[in-house]
Order: sequence, then C-alpha cells, then structure tokens
Amino acid sequence: MQPLILCVPQRLEIGAPFTHFSHQRLPIMRSLPPNSRRQFLQSLAAAGTAGILIRSPRRALGNQSANDRPVFATIGLRNQGWEITGKSFKFADFAALADIDANVLAENVEKVEKRQGKKPDAYSDYRKVLDRKDIDAVMIATPDHWHTKIAVEAMYAGKDVYCEKPLTLTIDEGKLIEKVVKETGRVFQVGTMQRTELEQRFLQAIALIRHGRIGTVKKVTCGIDAMEASPQIPVAPVPEGLDWDFWLGPAPEVAYRALPELRVGYGGGVPLYSNCHYSFRNWHEYSGGKLTDWGAHHVDIACWALGATETGPSKVTPVQYSLPVEYKDGYPTVDDRYNAATTFRIRAEMPGGVELIITSEGDNGILFEGTEGRFFVNRGRISGKPVEDLKDNPLPEGAIEEVYGGPVSENHTANFVEAMKSRKQPISDVWSHNRMLEICHLSNIAMRLGRELQWDPVKREIVGDDQANAFLSRESRKGYEINA
Ligand SMILES: NC(=O)c1ccc[n+]([C@@H]2O[C@H](COP(=O)([O-])OP(=O)(O)OC[C@H]3O[C@@H](n4cnc5c(N)ncnc54)[C@H](O)[C@@H]3O)[C@@H](O)[C@H]2O)c1
Repeated sequence: MQPLILCVPQRLEIGAPFTHFSHQRLPIMRSLPPNSRRQFLQSLAAAGTAGILIRSPRRALGNQSANDRPVFATIGLRNQGWEITGKSFKFADFAALADIDANVLAENVEKVEKRQGKKPDAYSDYRKVLDRKDIDAVMIATPDHWHTKIAVEAMYAGKDVYCEKPLTLTIDEGKLIEKVVKETGRVFQVGTMQRTELEQRFLQAIALIRHGRIGTVKKVTCGIDAMEASPQIPVAPVPEGLDWDFWLGPAPEVAYRALPELRVGYGGGVPLYSNCHYSFRNWHEYSGGKLTDWGAHHVDIACWALGATETGPSKVTPVQYSLPVEYKDGYPTVDDRYNAATTFRIRAEMPGGVELIITSEGDNGILFEGTEGRFFVNRGRISGKPVEDLKDNPLPEGAIEEVYGGPVSENHTANFVEAMKSRKQPISDVWSHNRMLEICHLSNIAMRLGRELQWDPVKREIVGDDQANAFLSRESRKGYEINA
C-alpha cells in the first residue's frame, strides 16, 4: 500500500523558526559540477524558487534560539552512533535513542543526558521513534544491512534522515532510496563527512584538480587498507541484553558467533571476532568489507573530483584479490568465519578513459595523477608538488567554497540542519553517493564471482551477465521486507 503523501504548499524561508516539517515535494540539488550547479540555481531563480535554495552566507547555527533547534533521535548507538550524536548537540536536541542492545542503549541514554542535561527516551524498537510526531530527523548508525529499511520507513514517517555510509547493502537499495527521497521530499544526508570535515583537506584536493593543477587527470588510486581474516568463530551464547533476532533483521537467520577475546582501541569493548557488533563489516551478509567501509569515503572523493557524480564506470576488473573462504557461485561455502575480501586491487574504467584503482596496498588515502603532476591526500595530510606550489601560486579566493557550493559548514551535522531549514539536499546527497557506491558494490560482485564486469551506467545494470545482475539486490528475511 502506498503511504499517504501530504504536499504542503507553504514555503520555508532560511532562518524561519523551526517547525516540524510535513512531507513536502522539494527541489533536488545534487552535487553538480560548478557550472551545472550554477545553471541549476539560475533555472530555479527563474522559476521563483531561488529564495529557498541559495545558501545563506551565515552558516553558523550555534546561536539559534532554543525553539530554532530541530529535534533528533539516533538509531544504533554503539560506536559511530555516539560519535555523530556527540557532534550534534550544538545543533539539535535529542529526544530519543533506539538500540536493540539494552546495555548499549542504557549507556548512551546516560551519556546523552550528561551532555544535553535532559534524558532522552529509550526504545528497543526504532519504529516507536518513527511514530513520534515531535521528532524532526533521525540519525541512523546501525550496521549496513539495516540502513535502507529504517531510512525508507523514516522518510515515510515524515522524518529527515542522516544515515551512515555505506548507505546500502546492494545497488538496488540505492535506487529505492532515491525513489523514496523524490517521493517524500525528505532531506537526506549520507554520513560521508570527508566532504565537510577533516580541515577541508579533501575539498582542497578537488579544488586543485578543478583548477588544473595536475593537468588532465589520468589515474586515481584509492588506498583503503587490507581487511583482517578471522579464525573459525564458534556459535556462542547470545550476550544478555542483545536481541539477536532483531539485530539480524532483514539478513538471513543464523546463530550468533563469537570468540572471547575482546577488541581493543577503536570500536573496542566487544568480541574481536564475531558476526555482530563492529565485526559485521567483515561479512557479506551485513556489509561489503573494506570496499564499502572505506571505499564509501575515498571513492566518493575520487568520483566527486572527477565530476563522475551522475555516471559510472564502463568496466570493473578484479585485477588481484584474496577471499578468506572458498566461494561457489558467488556465495561463501562456510559460515563460521569472515568472508569479505582481505586483499584486493580493483580497476574501474571511468568516463574519459580515467583509470580508478581501489587497492588494499599502500597508504590509506587518495593519489591523484594527471598529465602535469600528482598529489596525495588523506585524513592527516595533503602532499606533493602541486600542494607545495600553493605557497607561490595559491588557489583563487573562494575555490573551496565553489567546490562545496557555498561557505563550508561547521561540521556535517551543521550542513544537514542547514539543509533541513532551506529544504534542499545537503552536501552528501544520495544520488552521488549511490553512484560511487555502485563501483564499490560492483567490485565485491566481481571478486565474489571471480570475473570482470561490464557496467551500463545509464541503465545501472551489469551487461550480459544474469548471474552477476542477481547480486544487484537481495531478498529480505520474511517479516523484514521493505514496503516502498
Ligand atoms: N562515517 C564514518 O566515518 C563511520 C565510522 C564508523 C562507522 N560508520 C558506519 O556506522 C555504522 C555503524 O557502525 P559501528 O562501527 O558503529 O557499528 P557497531 O556494531 O559498533 O554499532 C551498531 C549499533 O547499531 C545497533 N543496532 C543494530 N541493529 C539495530 C536496529 N535495528 N535498531 C537499532 N539499533 C540497532 C547495534 O546494537 C549497535 O549498538 C556502519 O554503517 C558503519 O559503516 C561510519
């Protein structure tokens, strides 16, 4: 059954007091190259809608009055959920939290109460959050296999959405999210914060390319690290407080597995080897290994820099790779250890003959190579001759803002909240995200099947390979289907 969509004719002006938005059909502004972005704005101005689309020059939102502040809820709290919640207190009030792990939920209710001075309501079932009319937006930081279902239901419930990367588990989930964003007009930010944060280093990289500082780009190499393999992981008792069946959700029903050794450092405090918290990344049932975990960040910047935000590769070749278990017809033959690729070198043929390499070797970061030079960028540095040359020959004023499409927001949540007010799509829009994530998903399909794939970026289908095309979607477990 199609959900009821209300179209509210009222125009929301920048800076208007925050109201709880109804479903509106919104103009869609993707990450366009500067010229088309300008043309897009001009066409909207001509249509009389520019007033709600052009970014306000005053971007800081920290000094809003209390009733300007949107009401948020976070769904999935343990690691990244807390990280993005923590970065958002300046811009929003958190009325509710949801997690299927009672211990994680209780711990985060306490942390949020400490930070904002008001206790959020706690729910084990995210649908209770979506039922609440006072919540304007949800931040989703569950494992990847839940993203699409929760995001779609949230949009139909009238919420704007900030959802962690990688947005989807399959290519067709991306198409579905695009359809629902269009249909409901909700504002949707993907959590690829490299677009906004990290001292604007990635924006500077794109500006260098746009200003011809390495000539014509020929090759882009994304180093995204090797993935760990695991020993055999035995079936184990489900920890108290964890609703394992709900954690699995749309994924196939399997037993909980874990070894006693604990993960330390980033994401730590849970079993180092399991098929649940944090380690879900290493299983194709819940995620896509490094290709989607880190690929979602660096391939995103690579495609933005290449202006390939509305297209895709013609061919994806798994040049070298190792899978930690044997595969048959694209599926792992055992279910008791990690199954995502451990090492890999993927080559994608991008428009204009640009070679895009995604590799587990070398430093984590992106190497851009052109006819007149090369440079490297990652979260900690940007280096190379074109960067050194900036001392004598800086980029023109406003070059970074031109990449961003306006003054750079204070952080990725600030950008989301600004978009919620202006009712245009934020910096990490679903369209460009899905395009670049298609390369990451195709890389995984190519490795699982052990062959090169031809891709039609217009039809968004694999050419002449029915078996590979079957991997564009995945059936949800009964009771967890997505109704859209
Ligand atoms: N943007 C970034 O740099 C960045 C960094 C880390 C993680 N992430 C992304 O964030 C997501 C979560 O990763 P993580 O490391 O925090 O994983 P995690 O396993 O540590 O935490 C996920 C949390 O979601 C909860 N959860 C699972 N299903 C749920 C459901 N149906 N409803 C409510 N809660 C549910 C789990 O109980 C857990 O608390 C992943 O998609 C990951 O790729 C992004």
